[in-house]
Amino acid sequence: MMRCQVCGQENPDVARFCLNCGSPLASAAAGGDERRVVTVLFVDMVGSTARAEKLDPEDQRALLDRYYARVRSEIERFGGMVEKFIGDAVMAVFGAPVAFGDDPERAVRAALALRDAVDDLNAADPELDLQVRIAVNTGEAVAALGARPELGESMVAGDVVNTAARLQVHAPVNGIIVGEETYRSTRGSIAYTVGDAVTARGKAEPIAVWFAERAVTDAGQRRLSEAPMVGRERELEQLDAIWGRVIDEGRVQLVTLVGPPGIGKSRLGYEFGERVTVHGGRTLRGRSTPYGASTPYAAFAAHLKQVAGIFDTDAQEAATQKLRVAVEKLLGPEDAPEVASHLASLIALRTGTQAPDRQTLFLSVRRFVEALAARQPTLLVFEDVHWADSGMLDLLDELAALLHDSPVLLLAIARPELFAERPSWGGGLPAFTAIPLEPLSTEDTRSLAACLLAQGDEERLTRVLEISEGNPLFIEELAASLSERPEAAELPTSVRGLIAARLDALPTPERSLLLDASVVGRIFWDGALEAMEPDREALALLGSLERRDLVRREAVSRLQGQHQFRFKHVLIRDVAYQRLTRTTRRTRHELVARFLEGSALNTAAAEAIASHWREAGDAERAVQYYVAAAEDAGRGWAKEHAVQLYRQALALLKDGDPQRRDVGLKLAVAIQTAFHVPDVERLRKS
Ligand SMILES: Nc1ncnc2c1ncn2[C@@H]1O[C@H](COP(=O)(O)OP(=O)(O)OP(=O)(O)O)[C@@H](O)[C@H]1O
Ligand SMILES: [Mg+2]
Repeated sequence: MMRCQVCGQENPDVARFCLNCGSPLASAAAGGDERRVVTVLFVDMVGSTARAEKLDPEDQRALLDRYYARVRSEIERFGGMVEKFIGDAVMAVFGAPVAFGDDPERAVRAALALRDAVDDLNAADPELDLQVRIAVNTGEAVAALGARPELGESMVAGDVVNTAARLQVHAPVNGIIVGEETYRSTRGSIAYTVGDAVTARGKAEPIAVWFAERAVTDAGQRRLSEAPMVGRERELEQLDAIWGRVIDEGRVQLVTLVGPPGIGKSRLGYEFGERVTVHGGRTLRGRSTPYGASTPYAAFAAHLKQVAGIFDTDAQEAATQKLRVAVEKLLGPEDAPEVASHLASLIALRTGTQAPDRQTLFLSVRRFVEALAARQPTLLVFEDVHWADSGMLDLLDELAALLHDSPVLLLAIARPELFAERPSWGGGLPAFTAIPLEPLSTEDTRSLAACLLAQGDEERLTRVLEISEGNPLFIEELAASLSERPEAAELPTSVRGLIAARLDALPTPERSLLLDASVVGRIFWDGALEAMEPDREALALLGSLERRDLVRREAVSRLQGQHQFRFKHVLIRDVAYQRLTRTTRRTRHELVARFLEGSALNTAAAEAIASHWREAGDAERAVQYYVAAAEDAGRGWAKEHAVQLYRQALALLKDGDPQRRDVGLKLAVAIQTAFHVPDVERLRKS
């Protein structure tokens, strides 16, 4: 059976249109519509028609083919999708159908790469003088996840698309213009100059714009904030103790720091590295990148370059020379040439000779690290190991297994998906420790938030504490967004994006169940999910979500015979809910309201049922339940709460509705008694 996304009607599987309302069903089956934050990129050729006139049609065709092929490959390299061609312009989307969590940054990096690609194409052909304008814009859109762009179906629609198209005209030649949301979520990694606000057709307000100049961090890298470090005493103590053993026993240790994005892994790794240096050790840092041009063994290559003092700007010969000198200093003249030439291939120097096989290559790495550690105890930090290629992971495994007698601490830093990729990570190693990073304590959260917010702002502080749940990145982003745009109720795009990426990594059945659960609320029951989709195995799917740390089963349930669950984080619930289109929300809320009506909890749940009916668009039923809930609250002496509930009911009643008078009267009485409650309480106590 297929349920219509518009009216909720059940339809046989063969139906392509809803039997009840006639809406198409195909896209629903293929993924349905979702509201998502997407980043749109437009790239258009400048003066293309003038050029075309001068060219032979065949040459023109060949030129364009080469150009478009390059545009597509650059966009895809950064995880974007070419959505369509409009005249000479190409429109690409980042963040749909799959979000990676850093989609605006990917889009701007793709734009920078496109600008370089155009230079490349021009340099390769003296006849050629291609010029482009590029625009990048981020915002909410409705995405048809089942759309097939190759057949000309549009995937995203929304103002964000139109604005991007308008902005593009205002980009300088061979320049990149971006809108405000893109700027805000990428300014940590991209250098911008600010532009004059642009007035565009169909826009009441001028649009604030910036011009992207260049990237200032590596892909996937975040600049750590300067805020003083809070908490993490226990983890640092544990790391210090392991470092102590490395030195005392002269043996290798592998430590993996694991935790979700933004929890503070890199920061802890950084602080620990500084301590090691202070205590006479050597700290080398390397990382893996999520996309773009990455070399195999990139993290180790970075360690190597630090030892040899090689910069990315060094010419091949200079770099090779530096490497040879460094290796010879460590290993002596006899062994150095062979090891150096193997290592050269690791840092993508053309002068290297390929090691005959991987074992030999790894052996060279091992000898190098052993020699390094023999001089000074060494900490090798491997950041973002979840993005490492399998070769890099094997190398790490090998070092951990075979560097017996060297004082080396291998510190791998990873998000939990590392264990999804390699469930056996660390297994079988004699000296392996996993340190999971938990959220900051309330006290630490408070002190970090207080340090980031203007002083004495209790209201904002409370809000940050409520929402961030101890994730330092979320604390930072929320604090920044509250200080800069106090009126904005939305979550910062960066936070939303990180959570959206976790949702997109789920298998489809789990994902759609999680979206449904978000309609019920932070707390939900398996029966409600089955009421929405009778064919699903709700409990099995919930088990899977619990293992992924997105929901948690509660020990006690308020509904008899129902398992009660809770979203691990209120943000997960909010982002999931924001995904749903208004039509889907309405039909889902109605199903939840009916489910709760049928549950034993009926009266106690009146307020919840009322709000579900309200969101389902049924004001009449909502008023009925609000009034019932208010009467219950009044009887239980929760007079102030009763006032609130009557107000909610009143807000739903149109002017001239005969019920208004009645509810208004009840409200007046409730206000009267609420006013007197403190007196009554006092009398009762005395
Ligand atoms: N204990 C802490 N005290 C103060 N600030 C912190 C703390 N931990 C992290 N931060 C800050 O929070 C931000 C996010 O932390 P960090 O980059 O270390 O997260 P992460 O776990 O490495 O995330 P990702 O998986 O995305 O790399 C940084 O700006 C960092 O400086
Ligand atoms: Mg990190």
